[in-house]
Amino acid sequence: MKAIVPGSFDPITKGHLDVIERAHKVFDEVLVAVGRNSQKKSSMFDAQERVDLVAGAIDHLPGVEVGLIDGLLVDYARAQGCGVIVKGLRFASDFDYELQMAHINTHVSGIETVFLPAGGPYATISSTMMREIAAYGGDVSEFVTPNVAEAIARKVSQGK
Ligand code: PNS
Repeated sequence: MKAIVPGSFDPITKGHLDVIERAHKVFDEVLVAVGRNSQKKSSMFDAQERVDLVAGAIDHLPGVEVGLIDGLLVDYARAQGCGVIVKGLRFASDFDYELQMAHINTHVSGIETVFLPAGGPYATISSTMMREIAAYGGDVSEFVTPNVAEAIARKVSQGK
């Protein structure tokens, strides 16, 4: 079965990659889908930049591709032939939000969501933390892939 791993990915981190790699151990094909979260008002990277950064971060993973959600996640998932949504869970606060999303997505489409516990040394990091550390001059290169570290450094040098 083909799984979709959706997210804002602003930018993709090694925490996201851990979930993507483990989703790929469970499902034959994985589509990483960049979407817009209407609750997140500010972003460092625009949608196409985020897609490009994901593409660079997953290029060592055959069977994993990236796409851009251009409407509802479930419509995009169906159009791309994905039978299941995979989301990583870090803390209880993630669960409250994700449970609500999973219920509505199943209700309107029949597509189920499978939760994977975040794991590994980067289990609790977030894109927000990466943006904040970088904005204050910190080094995030341990937590993101080299293409993402370079892109963040460029944004910071442009004052963004
Ligand atoms: O990384 P995030 O912010 O948790 O990702 C959230 C995302 C982009 C997966 C979610 O907001 C989403 O699915 N957006 C697409 C529009 C949609 O289907 N929204 C759900 C309707 S309530």
